[in-house]
Parts: sequence; C-alpha cells; structure tokens
Amino acid sequence: MNTIAKVDIKELAKQYGTPVYVYDKGMIIQNYSTLKKAFAKYYSKTKIHFSVKANSNIKLLSIFKEIGSGADCSSPIELILAEKSGFSQENLLYTGNYESYLDLEQALLSNVTINLDDINSFKRLMKIRLPERISFRINPGIGRGGFEGIVTGGTDAKFGIPYENALEAYKLAKESGVKRFGIHMMTGSNNLEPYYFAEIVDKLMTIAGDIFTKLEIIPEFVDIGGGFGVPYNDNEEPLNVDLTARLVTEMFTEKCNKYGFGEPYLFLEPGRYLIANSGYLISNVTGIKNSYKKFVGIDSGMNTLLRPALYGARHRIEVYDKNENQQIVNICGQICENSDIFSLLQPFPDVEEDDIVVIHDVGAYGYVMASNYNNRLRPPEVIVDGDKHELIRRRENIDDVLRLYEF
Ligand SMILES: Cc1ncc(COP(=O)(O)O)c(C=O)c1O
Repeated sequence: MNTIAKVDIKELAKQYGTPVYVYDKGMIIQNYSTLKKAFAKYYSKTKIHFSVKANSNIKLLSIFKEIGSGADCSSPIELILAEKSGFSQENLLYTGNYESYLDLEQALLSNVTINLDDINSFKRLMKIRLPERISFRINPGIGRGGFEGIVTGGTDAKFGIPYENALEAYKLAKESGVKRFGIHMMTGSNNLEPYYFAEIVDKLMTIAGDIFTKLEIIPEFVDIGGGFGVPYNDNEEPLNVDLTARLVTEMFTEKCNKYGFGEPYLFLEPGRYLIANSGYLISNVTGIKNSYKKFVGIDSGMNTLLRPALYGARHRIEVYDKNENQQIVNICGQICENSDIFSLLQPFPDVEEDDIVVIHDVGAYGYVMASNYNNRLRPPEVIVDGDKHELIRRRENIDDVLRLYEF
C-alpha cells in the first residue's frame, strides 16, 4: 500500500514524522452518505448522531456537522468539543453512565437531549433542574459485540436500566413534570449481522409499547444506538447496510403502528461505521529481533493504538512498497508490556529498519484511546482530501508533558 487517497504515504511520513494518524475525508463522507441514504430510503425521519467517543478531533467533528450529522457525547468535554465544532444544541445528545452532578450540570447547561443511564441519575438531575424532554437508556436484556469488552447490553452489562425497572423510571419522570420523552438503547459495538439489529429493535419497541401505553406517552424519538460494524480482516464481509436499514425500519414502523406512536424520529448513534475505515496509522520499523520468535518492532504501540492490547483486536498491517518474501512474524510496539502486540504469527514481507508500515481501520477508537504510557508522546493527526493534506492536531511535545507539573 503506497497511497492514502491520492497522497503518497512516504511523503506523509516525511512531512509529519511517525507515528502519525491519517484520515481520508472522502471515505468519511462516503460512509455517512451510505448509511444516511439507506435509512432515509425506508424511513425519512431517521437522524444520525455521530458518536464522538469514537473520534473527537474537532476538524473531523466539523466535517460531520457540515454533512448534516448530529453528535452524541458521553462526557462534558466531548460536549464542549462538539459545540466548538459548530453543532447546535438541537443536534446534540448526551449519553453518559453513572453521571455525576457535574456531568449532568454540563448537559443541562448545553441544553441538549439527555439519555439517562438510571433512575438514580434522574433523581440527581431533578436536584439540579428538570428538563422538558428526557430519555432513558434501557438494557433490553440482550447484547452482542465484536469482543466481550464491547458488549453493552444483557445481564453482565453495567449500562442502562433493566427493562423490568423501566416503567418506574418513566413514571417518576412523568409525575415529576417531564413533558416530552424519548427512549434509548446501545447493546454492543462492531456487529455485522443485520438480523441482530432487527432483533434488538423488536425488543426495545416492545418495551416502549408496554411502558408508554400504560403511561399514555407518545415518544418523540427512539434511539437505537450505534454498533454498526466494519470488517477488520479480509475474511469478514462488510455489514449489509441496505438490508439492516430495511429490517430495522420495517420492525420500527410495524411497532409504531401497533402502539399508536405515529412517526417518531429514529435516532442512530454510529461511531465505528462512519469513521473506522477512514483512518490509517503510519509507523516506522524501529527494530527487528530474532528471538524465540521473530519480532518486528514499530514506533506505534499500545500507547498509540490500544485496541489490540485491550481486546485482542487485530488490524490489517501493510508495508510501504513491499509485499515480497512473506514470513511469519509478531508485530509489536516499544512499550514495556508483553501485551504490547499488534499481531501474532502474521505473514509479513521481509522488512528492514526504517521501513514504513501502515495499520488500517484505526479511525474509530484509535487516537481517542491513545495515552502517554511510558511517557511516549501522542502522535499528530492529518487529514487527506484527494491530493491535499493538512495537519489537524500537532504532535505532543515535552512542554505538553511538563506543563502539568508544579515545579
Ligand atoms: C451510547 C453509545 N452510543 C454510540 C456508541 C457508538 O458505537 P459504535 O462505534 O459501535 O457505533 C457507543 C459505543 O460504545 C455508545 O456507548
């Protein structure tokens, strides 16, 4: 692999140094348009809110804003970044969990729609101020994700209100004076099976039907979260987005008709689907070791891209201008942890020190999880648009590290 869009990867490595995160703007726009068109074809009142936790670079957020997306935030700073990127309050959601008073104060101050994680979160919120509209995150009792760590529904999940307790939460909100309602779920990330999405929509709508009929509530929106997956290796098939949209919207409208909900908004909160495959991490080979196994060490590690160490996630890795003499290697970073491994027993071209390697699909949950572990500095971020490229966040430097100390 030698180019990202129309820009030579060696040029990018030379100009910005390595490691460097690079995003392809065209791919982001294409992903958004594919998802938006697929859902709008079947249900026009579908609204997409990009999940800021997947990637919170202000420049990238402002692209989502420009192409018509809303944004879903999970912390006060994410809200502030989204506001700085130009999103207006009616296009912002706040979905936290175990929300503190400070979190809730910021969400109220920003005047955005809040998806509350628990009835006790509502009790805390009430002590500050009662919003006009509220939504609760429901745990529909099932969950599924690409790894155990990204399953967010079901009996082991820390998120949301168990559906058995959901009536009590909405009853309290209504009796306390809330006038307008929505309902939310997010059951897991990186799902590639269209029928799963229909299954969870069925569950959520049945729960909504039961609660809202009893309480005489007509929901203004139903938020089914994100979770739309992407293939991280060549053996996986991409999500069939059109089929997913058709199955979800069919189930949704059938239940809306059954329960007399009219036509509420259908909210989606995708992160990974919209941005994962737009991102590349360009790195340099720093050392090659023939130990009990052969290791290729690069200047990115779990400090730069945590997913492999965190979940055992695997990303495609290619070498600039080399594809010959494949041999089995382990690719690792420079961090003092034995879990600092990008791939085990991977067929890889015969590389030398200073070769450039490119890690794929790092646009979601990449930079946002980067850290200063071992006091390595966070990399810069660059956007590529056709044959142009631009720095959208500079590399950290020693002053950034020292600034936090009192001397
Ligand atoms: C509440 C909520 N919404 C949206 C998302 C985005 O998920 P994904 O990137 O799988 O689309 C997440 C991710 O965990 C989430 O917790």
